[in-house]
Amino acid sequence: MFNPMYSEHADEYAAAIRDNSYNAFYERPSLLALLPELQNKAVLDLACGPGVYSEYLLSQGARVTAVDCSPEMVALVQQRLGDAVKCYEQDLAQGLPREADAAYDLAICPLAIHYLEDLSVLFRDVRRVLKPNGLFVFSTHHPFVDYPFSPSGNYFLTEKIVDEWDTLGRPVQVEFYRRPLTAILQPLLEAGLTLVGICEGKPDPKMEQSDPKNFRKLSTEPGFLFVKCRMM
Ligand SMILES: C[S@@+](CC[C@H](N)C(=O)[O-])C[C@H]1O[C@@H](n2cnc3c(N)ncnc32)[C@H](O)[C@@H]1O
Repeated sequence: MFNPMYSEHADEYAAAIRDNSYNAFYERPSLLALLPELQNKAVLDLACGPGVYSEYLLSQGARVTAVDCSPEMVALVQQRLGDAVKCYEQDLAQGLPREADAAYDLAICPLAIHYLEDLSVLFRDVRRVLKPNGLFVFSTHHPFVDYPFSPSGNYFLTEKIVDEWDTLGRPVQVEFYRRPLTAILQPLLEAGLTLVGICEGKPDPKMEQSDPKNFRKLSTEPGFLFVKCRMM
């Protein structure tokens, strides 16, 4: 997909998400609230971006492997965390061919599955690499938020959307897939993962001061969807 924000603008993206409203005060606290105890856990950070999550996981005592399809993001993680994290390039549409079976206690995938047209390959491989009782926690665009951008007007289709976001303080083109709720949850269940938690996002109270408009918006309507599953 054409997403220059994560390749040629990787540095700017890393700086933008450090303390912005949507990532720092909404997405990260909502996803972190779903994570288990991390001390000594083997954790896979899928679509790791510049490594904000990997850094947090390490700080909590986890052993971390991080992957991303963008060489620029992989380089940023290596710069930021060095040998403390194993980080390599991987297109998640191809699954996790370099990972062994039953190797991880936890896999996270924040804000990335909407870049994949077909979720079944990734979800099956996440199940394969998790230990029994291992957890998979991810966030993605809430289907109701993307639906108004549907080119067809048919909620039940999975469709590519081309849009512009101002995450970097100016419009940058992004491409992603919107899909109905069923098309997010059904491939998880078909992969053999059991849904154990769901959340529609909760802004950090600190955002009320820093960004009252978005605090009100995200306190009264969804932005992202947060899903927690277990490998039984
Ligand atoms: C919105 S950023 C999220 C980064 C990180 N998870 C976070 O929340 O801070 C999306 C990331 O997904 C990565 N990505 C997009 N498509 C991907 C794919 N097919 N395989 C692996 N990574 C992908 C991008 O390179 C980018 O780093």
